[in-house]
Amino acid sequence: MSTEQAELLIKEAETVARQSYAPYSNFPVGAAVMSKSGRLHMGANIENASYGLTVCAERVALMNAMMAGNAAKQDITALAVWAAKPTNHAVTPCGACRQVMVELMHPNAAVVHFCSEKPGELKIVPVKDLLPGAFSLSS
Ligand code: THU
Repeated sequence: MSTEQAELLIKEAETVARQSYAPYSNFPVGAAVMSKSGRLHMGANIENASYGLTVCAERVALMNAMMAGNAAKQDITALAVWAAKPTNHAVTPCGACRQVMVELMHPNAAVVHFCSEKPGELKIVPVKDLLPGAFSLSS
């Protein structure tokens, strides 16, 4: 994925973060997923008073992509994640979301997030590098 495409996808994630429901953490997150056809699917974090029921932006976006007909593993080619609050470290997907990405995205699909080493720059990582030893039912 080119830097321009990554920047575009992050912009979409930023826009959709406005739809976050995060009254408990006050940490709005947006995610944008791209399918093989170039279509975008969005997600934002949805929290709950029973905190553990919170769903991250990445998983909401991936479920939306699935519901729009991208059920084949090859279909989802990129995901970008954006957080509204400036942090002094990279905004990277959590472990649970990584497990879901491994299941639903192409192994070479690009995951875009902000880079900690060079603030303001984007980091692009292939899904297959995100979760070594991901859980699998078959060997
Ligand atoms: N969150 C995400 O939506 N994506 C991430 O990658 C990490 C965390 C959300 C969950 C919760 O609503 C808030 O950020 C603070 O943890």
